[in-house]
Amino acid sequence: MARVLFVCLGNICRSPTAHGVFHQRVDASGLAHRIEVDSAGTAAYHIGKAPDQRSVSAAQRRGYDLSPLRARQVEASDFGSFDYILAMDHSNLANLERVCPADYKGHLGLFLDFADCSEVEVPDPYYGGADGFGHVLDLVEAASDGLLGHIRQEIAD
Ligand code: 4NP
Repeated sequence: MARVLFVCLGNICRSPTAHGVFHQRVDASGLAHRIEVDSAGTAAYHIGKAPDQRSVSAAQRRGYDLSPLRARQVEASDFGSFDYILAMDHSNLANLERVCPADYKGHLGLFLDFADCSEVEVPDPYYGGADGFGHVLDLVEAASDGLLGHIRQEIAD
């Protein structure tokens, strides 16, 4: 079993998008019994809330359903539960590195390291315009393809 946790700041825009997109790709590949997916935020602002309506709508236009997801905050126990903890931006990653146990054996890094693109961060769309949500989806789709290919190879080894 490979367990993947996507992390952003609020867990209402970027990481739920990654959660929904990657989960759909895992399902479509018939690997739902081998790969578990979750998401969380470094901040506590939005605990228990559904994803931002702008993220839900943008995702829905591409066939992803984010509506059942609810925000939660990253917990210390996540480092014991997840093999991949993937941050959307450098700030999220720095916050995770501060609380990551020294003996964590999994992969803690940036999600876009798995994308074949020149950008390194998924930019925070919360205070921006509608275009930002489509751009988040473009980046998340590219990185999801790369991550799934990487994990497939790992599972096959
Ligand atoms: P996310 O976006 O980290 O992609 O979920 C944000 C959501 C909420 C806030 C900031 C970013 N906020 O400041 O409330």
